[in-house]
Amino acid sequence: MSEARLAGRVALVTGASRGIGAAIAIRLGLYGARVVCNYNRSEEAVRNVVSRIAAGGGEAIALRADVSSREEVEAMVEKAVNTFGRLDILVNNAAILMRGGVMDDVSILDRMMEVNVKGVIYCIAASLKHMMRQRYGRIINIASIAAFGTTSRNTTYYAMTKGAIITLTKRLAFELGEYGITVNAVAPGFTKTDMTMNRPAEELSEVTRRLETITALKRLGEPEDIAEAVAFLASERAGFITGQVISVDGGRMDFFSRST
Ligand SMILES: NC(=O)c1ccc[n+]([C@@H]2O[C@H](COP(=O)([O-])OP(=O)(O)OC[C@H]3O[C@@H](n4cnc5c(N)ncnc54)[C@H](OP(=O)(O)O)[C@@H]3O)[C@@H](O)[C@H]2O)c1
Repeated sequence: MSEARLAGRVALVTGASRGIGAAIAIRLGLYGARVVCNYNRSEEAVRNVVSRIAAGGGEAIALRADVSSREEVEAMVEKAVNTFGRLDILVNNAAILMRGGVMDDVSILDRMMEVNVKGVIYCIAASLKHMMRQRYGRIINIASIAAFGTTSRNTTYYAMTKGAIITLTKRLAFELGEYGITVNAVAPGFTKTDMTMNRPAEELSEVTRRLETITALKRLGEPEDIAEAVAFLASERAGFITGQVISVDGGRMDFFSRST
């Protein structure tokens, strides 16, 4: 049964067409928020997410914007506020993972910075004037445990972008607290989405086996595991929590600074 703990609230979820973002949008809709589902390329998939929210008794719209374009983000946020009248919850979920060694190709860092870091800044900047006017806001940034030094190869530049998100979260929490805006991050571990599962079957089964071994709960994450933590941070119940990073990783034991 649905529980309307977010009734009256309006949420914008970036990258809501697939994976973790889709699960977050559906969960926020189930909890009573009106949801703006951002997408970039996956129009059909996002329509499906909007339909699922409507089927659960919720209200949602889809808005296209490439988060790495400041103009597109500003237009999206204005349209969202024009449609629903306010903006209470911003979930910065959209990101890309481009694999590569540190010595291989620095240009992948540039592209990931555009989407994973600047995209988040554009979305926050466009949303802030509405949240400040309301003197209420919940910003939740999706980071990654990669930022803490996990031992997955070829993801160092990606991890750096997620480290930047954690620093941004803590600094903004300090700056925005006086406006009644909380800023927190959720750091997922390996979660079953296109980002992680799209690889040759043999490699996937090897990676899966390795990760299950080094995860205390002995399973991989589901998008809904992440969505529930986000829904909590988005709610009134989390009103005294800001500047925090919650890992949702099943208890991963391969951080570089820990012994396994
Ligand atoms: N999966 C994991 O194991 C894992 C672990 C740690 C952290 N994370 C983080 O969790 C978040 C979601 O990851 P995921 O696994 O669900 O990824 P995913 O399955 O690859 O989905 C990515 C989503 O981001 C959107 N997106 C990508 N570039 C965009 C852009 N420029 N503008 C707007 N939207 C864009 C995509 O939209 P379109 O398809 O419409 O283009 C899609 O909805 C990311 O921040 C990721 O870094 C994931």
